[in-house]
Amino acid sequence: MSIEFSRVLDQIPPSGIRKFFDLVIGSKDIISLGVGEPDFVTPWGIREEAIATLEQGATSYTANAGLLECREETVSYLKERFNLTYDAKTETMLTVGVSEGVDITMRALLNAGDEVIIPEPGYVCYHPLVTLAGGIPITLDTSGNHFIPDPKELEKLITPRTKALVLCSPNNPTGVVIPKETLEAIAALSKKYQFWVITDEIYAELNYEGYTSYASIPGVKDRTILLSGFSKAFAMTGWRLGYLCGPEALVSRTLKIHQYSALCAPIIAQYAAIEALKHNLKAVEEMRKSYLLRRNFFVKRLNDAGLPTPMPSGAFYTFSSIKHTGLSSEEFALNLLKKERVAVVPGNAFGACAEGYIRCCYATDMEKLKEAVLRIKRFIKGLQ
Ligand SMILES: Cc1ncc(COP(=O)(O)O)c(C=O)c1O
Repeated sequence: MSIEFSRVLDQIPPSGIRKFFDLVIGSKDIISLGVGEPDFVTPWGIREEAIATLEQGATSYTANAGLLECREETVSYLKERFNLTYDAKTETMLTVGVSEGVDITMRALLNAGDEVIIPEPGYVCYHPLVTLAGGIPITLDTSGNHFIPDPKELEKLITPRTKALVLCSPNNPTGVVIPKETLEAIAALSKKYQFWVITDEIYAELNYEGYTSYASIPGVKDRTILLSGFSKAFAMTGWRLGYLCGPEALVSRTLKIHQYSALCAPIIAQYAAIEALKHNLKAVEEMRKSYLLRRNFFVKRLNDAGLPTPMPSGAFYTFSSIKHTGLSSEEFALNLLKKERVAVVPGNAFGACAEGYIRCCYATDMEKLKEAVLRIKRFIKGLQ
């Protein structure tokens, strides 16, 4: 008997980010600009609260949707920071990171053959999770429009099967923040053609020139699912906590899947998140300032080193063109790793239209950034 696994799953390639991460693990002299993770540990106040809560014996399950207090704090934070209004009991649930939020949203929304439009370059999980949920990912190439989804191009892709559009602003991998006027034009299309917008705002706090949440555009609430979480802003990637907000009809369905597949998000992470939201926004601001300094330094140095790199308005990534080198993004990344021991992610991990680019994460210390640009410069010189 031959062993057969899910055919749909077997067609999905492994994450291009992980592939490079695995090459780097265990090598000490490599400077990694690969993985998109804050270099800060979670602020001490948050860790201290979690330790105390654990000592007091908080080791149980919570309500499926998460501790009500944590949902209430999340909702007040969203109101205060982004002018969003959600009901903590019926329109908000806690997830095991934004990753789970994307998964259960796709599974709750899609029927076989439904189309989901995904702007690319884009974060790696959207395509596979749409496919696994039986949907069809449709690529919106943003590379000709400074990596901003163009509403006119978007409209051309809309069909009677269009169920949803994914937005990610600030964007991974480009760092682009979608301007308010573009969000408004997208909102008008969502209303006209009645499709959902799934807005991944995990980098919302890490913006350097201002920010508008798609969910704050008037009139979009009944067709919008907001996904965000604690991983990036609060340096809490390992705690695995995110949240999903949307209309009750949608949240009751995502919650149904979560009930069976996750049961609840980790209790300690939920208590830590309450502390994060109540007392640690200042720490977020300090981390943001530190990323901003590093962004300014790194972008300038990359351009000086011969890698055309636009100034990103958010997140902690640079997205540089390597087209002039004649190498594919994978060749560039592999050779840079072998010759100069610097790990970056090849653009093609973020979609075919991201070929010709590399992503660097600058959430690493200044000394390493300085050394990395020297090595990149030497590598590019060596190509000439
Ligand atoms: C745009 C985007 N969404 C979601 C995630 C996953 O986040 P989480 O740690 O909350 O699962 C990431 C992680 O890199 C990301 O960049």
